[in-house]
Amino acid sequence: MSTETKPSERVTVETTLNGTEVEQTVPAGTLLSAFLRNHEYLTGTHRGCETAKCGACTVLVDGDPVKSCNMLAAQVDGATVTTVEGLADGEDLHPVQQAFWDCHGSQCGYCTPGFVTNVVALLEDNPDPSVEEIRSHLTGNICRCTGYTKIIESVQEAAARMDGDGK
Ligand code: FES
Ligand code: FES
Repeated sequence: MSTETKPSERVTVETTLNGTEVEQTVPAGTLLSAFLRNHEYLTGTHRGCETAKCGACTVLVDGDPVKSCNMLAAQVDGATVTTVEGLADGEDLHPVQQAFWDCHGSQCGYCTPGFVTNVVALLEDNPDPSVEEIRSHLTGNICRCTGYTKIIESVQEAAARMDGDGK
């Protein structure tokens, strides 16, 4: 007998989302991006291409950056998910967010949540990345406004402020 889940079936997803335990029962075919935006109302996770190309929908699953348009909500059952809304410490922006603000790494801002979450993951793994390493890590994120120079500067500034401790 097949154990495949039919899209019409419903699944219960239990996850730690931005530090809070949540449980939602959703159609089995619900994408993680839709789960976050439509069921948890976390609209900081943006939808762009919805074909895993632009990176606007990037979130962290167990600390790793993933494109949430390319993953089912059911796949984060039991996992820890962090969206851009979960990065700040109260009123204090995460250093990566603050650096993007201070260095003008964002213009229209549509791509920014995806870049910021992906950069948080980068600096956790590599607190002092070279420009080439930054560019390589961010190849899956597209920005149509900034020309990328200010984004690279924002990442370098965030790394300097975080003083290589990855926090
Ligand atoms: S919306 Fe997910 S990669 Fe573009
Ligand atoms: S700031 Fe507009 S798409 Fe990146």
